[in-house]
Amino acid sequence: MSNESESLAGGRARLPQGVRDLLAALAGRHLVGNALVGPVDGACLTVVDPATGRALAQAPAAGPADVQAAVAAARAAGQAWARVPARERGRLVAEGGRRIAAASPDLAPLLAAETGKAIRTECRPEIATAADILAMFGGLATELKGETLPFSPDMLALTTREPLGVVAAILPWNVPLVLMALKIGPALVAGNTVVVKASEEAPFATIEAARLLADLLPPGVLNVICGTGPACGAPLVRHPDVAKVTFTGSQAVGEAIYREAADKLIPVSLELGGKSPMLVFADAELDRAVAGAVAGMRFTRQGQSCTASSRIYVDAELHDRFVERLAAAVSNLRMGDPLEEATDIGTVINARQRAKIMNYIARGEATPGARAVRCGHLPAAPDLAAGLFVEPVLFTGLTEDSPLMRDEIFGPVACIVPFSDEDDVLEAANAGEFGLAATVWTRDLRRALRVSHALDAGYVQVNQNLTIQPNLSYGGFKKSGLGKEASLESMLEHFTRKKTIVVDMR
Ligand code: NAI
Ligand code: MG
Repeated sequence: MSNESESLAGGRARLPQGVRDLLAALAGRHLVGNALVGPVDGACLTVVDPATGRALAQAPAAGPADVQAAVAAARAAGQAWARVPARERGRLVAEGGRRIAAASPDLAPLLAAETGKAIRTECRPEIATAADILAMFGGLATELKGETLPFSPDMLALTTREPLGVVAAILPWNVPLVLMALKIGPALVAGNTVVVKASEEAPFATIEAARLLADLLPPGVLNVICGTGPACGAPLVRHPDVAKVTFTGSQAVGEAIYREAADKLIPVSLELGGKSPMLVFADAELDRAVAGAVAGMRFTRQGQSCTASSRIYVDAELHDRFVERLAAAVSNLRMGDPLEEATDIGTVINARQRAKIMNYIARGEATPGARAVRCGHLPAAPDLAAGLFVEPVLFTGLTEDSPLMRDEIFGPVACIVPFSDEDDVLEAANAGEFGLAATVWTRDLRRALRVSHALDAGYVQVNQNLTIQPNLSYGGFKKSGLGKEASLESMLEHFTRKKTIVVDMR
């Protein structure tokens, strides 16, 4: 025990004092009924700083009893919250977003320490985006409208939008605050109460951000529990009082949640994997396309994005120049301590993910005809020797049947493939089981539109490669998921139920 406390103190030593205090307050606790409480049986798990390999703090390892407590708190708060005027709910959620943004000086290093993501390129922008999303949904509260229907002159026929009840929101570790905002924003504004299941890999910034918002709300409206998938996530999905599940994560878990939800006949929103194509035509502006590939592959996040543009099809005329310039651009990114301002790229989340990525890289390198272009330099600092850094790799010479061209690697690995015919490249781009996003790079607007229509992906961008944008519906086709996020549509379609009321006035 004393060894453990020593190593915990060691892992935290490099953090600013305010963040250390925060971790001390959060250690072993999650948020139920607006109180920071430990799990019923006291069970904990260790959260590791992936840049140093040292323990950061203990997090709760919630089990079925904690799920029960959190769902009961959410259920108890439900009726009163649903009766709060929509505009007031919206105002509170937007104000919560402002508090989260204001807490960025503590939240950003906390997020960087638990995820390994660089503070400047990833963590601060993530917090700002999360706040922006909450502000947007707060403002959409007045859009929770029904209709009146021309049914008969002496009948009053109308529809209303009601909350669903208790929503379970299950989060991954890659962008936990943005994904939490995309789920709790529309759920709360629509009058639902929520139990968030934080990722056991990186729960602290999630719990703290939720605490800042929950402080404004009646107890039980927003709860966050932390535990593993099997011990905490699964019983949450199965709980009879959970009326809706919204999930972002792996395809396998998404499919399992869908099966569980079928038994209860409750709605689910699933945001799963991707293998998103980027199509660079001969007339594209090369520099913009290269910058778009750097951004779209999320190299500053070590490629840990479901939207990552990991299949890059480039017109044969441009191919070699594109690879050369992309390699130069990625090599310019500085890999290092996530907590340092100068760092562009931090680490991946854990050893398991790193091993998975390295295994793909090894398979690519062993493929006859393939070439791996390594971009970047692992940091030399001795205290980062155990850090889970991965050098970005660009592969050329792989064919469509390669697992690197098919599977979601969730690491800094991009495959670049030449093409010479629009129909052929569309067929290749649309192959595979995913259909999350795609980008098209061309100066020919007619081609841009033709290709955008033909792409089998839920989110298509032309001559840009942005992340999820508040107000634009985001969600995948095929095995990439079910439902939309980030928009008014997501709130109305996925967090309310519609009731028809008919009054006979005769
Ligand atoms: P995961 O799908 O296992 O974990 C995501 C969340 O689901 C976590 O909170 C986890 O505790 C929970 N969970 C796990 N099993 C569950 C169950 N049976 N019932 C309910 N909740 C459960 O993802 P993992 O293992 O962290 O990452 C593996 C791969 O998944 C990545 O390599 C990547 O390909 C993909 N992934 C995709 C993400 C996306 O943004 N779409 C995010 C994270 C991972
Ligand atoms: Mg960790």
